[in-house]
Amino acid sequence: MNVRRLVVANWKMNKTAAETADYIDAFVVQLPSLPRDVEIVLAPPFTSICRAAAKREGSRVRLGAQTMHWELHGAFTGEISAPMLREFGVSHVILGHSERRAHCNETDRTVNLKVHTALEQSLIPIVAVGETLEQRRAGVTDDHVVAQTRAAFDGVDAGALAGVVIAYEPIWAIGTGENCEPAEANRVMATIRSSLQGLRETPILYGGSMNTGNVASYATQPDINGGLIGGASLDPDGFAQLIRSAASPP
Ligand code: 13P
Repeated sequence: MNVRRLVVANWKMNKTAAETADYIDAFVVQLPSLPRDVEIVLAPPFTSICRAAAKREGSRVRLGAQTMHWELHGAFTGEISAPMLREFGVSHVILGHSERRAHCNETDRTVNLKVHTALEQSLIPIVAVGETLEQRRAGVTDDHVVAQTRAAFDGVDAGALAGVVIAYEPIWAIGTGENCEPAEANRVMATIRSSLQGLRETPILYGGSMNTGNVASYATQPDINGGLIGGASLDPDGFAQLIRSAASPP
């Protein structure tokens, strides 16, 4: 199985456009020393995307968005559509992040609508799934992430699934410093991979307190193909160091 590797920086609600420009200046000079086999995606806030697009031009850094609406245009105050993202060269979009499920009414149904729109609009969806601490303690982690995965890709052809990305982000591990043990994360991610036909070559990323100190222990796991990084992606030097340690094991 030759699954491509991907490291995605989810900046969440951090960095102004000016701070984004400074970050990318500091980050792109490190690219020659970063492993070629790891795709790099930065997902800044919407207000920084235009600046980020100009700053990363000509580099191999790809751009992601943190969410989008499923409609292409219309009366949806405050929302952003796929064509608006495409205009700036955005190639990836994070969908169903647990923070949006918890605070912004994102549901399995809206994630599914957005996945269809993303694929129709040639954006690569990065679908986030993951259990709460209560669900883990109740022993329903596997059932929950499998249900989220199947709901997200309902109606998508198995043949299209090699072109999507899934992120397993246990909610209790996000921003807490309590990362999920790599072997346990790998077990859940193997379960996600086998939950639908067509996921054999789909990159599945781990997210949740991943950092420069622990990334290498994830990179050696067979079903972990990279990371979706929050806090540890906010410093350009630290993020570059993390990517160095995320390369495939020799
Ligand atoms: P942290 O890396 O800050 O735990 O955040 C993970 C995450 O939610 C990325 O989407």
